[in-house]
Amino acid sequence: MISAVRHVALVGLMGSGKSTVGRRLARSLGREFVDTDTRVEVMSARSIRDIFTEDGEEGFRDRESQVLVEALDAVTSSVIATGGGVVLRDANRRSLVNHSVIWLRARPETLVDRVASSTRGGAEHRPLIGTDPLANLSLMANERRTMYEEVSDVIIDVDALAIDQIVRSCVEAVKELER
Ligand code: S3P
Repeated sequence: MISAVRHVALVGLMGSGKSTVGRRLARSLGREFVDTDTRVEVMSARSIRDIFTEDGEEGFRDRESQVLVEALDAVTSSVIATGGGVVLRDANRRSLVNHSVIWLRARPETLVDRVASSTRGGAEHRPLIGTDPLANLSLMANERRTMYEEVSDVIIDVDALAIDQIVRSCVEAVKELER
């Protein structure tokens, strides 16, 4: 279904800053902010880890797809921070096509540090990080690279950037994409 409203969606691996950047980007643009992970947790009244444990990854992905469709259906333009694995499903990638999608790209080495110092639940909302974060993030990076590429309009390499700089780059990218 083609949505009439063009949303901004942030994609990228866990720890790339989607939620932090997304919240600040939404404030800068004066738009609503949606975090798909948070919506899944609220909708299920459970943590992501509990959903993975009780319903498996597919149970989580079903909810994530549902939340994404609902967010993209909203009639006012918003900034959506997606979960790192949102690109795994074809349907999700297709539904992002008509929106402004920004990939916050980072090296796994950078992400390990950020995931470890995350203030948002850390390991509790990231069961896939496992006991060897660098190995798992590297695997995910390899598996998902082409999927992030497929959906992205803009790529921002965030390794050397502070949050402020990433937000500013996103604001510029959105202006350019919406011209
Ligand atoms: C996942 C990333 C997480 C969360 C879930 C699965 C992934 O979100 O959706 O643990 O598959 O990469 P963040 O990218 O916000 O950490």
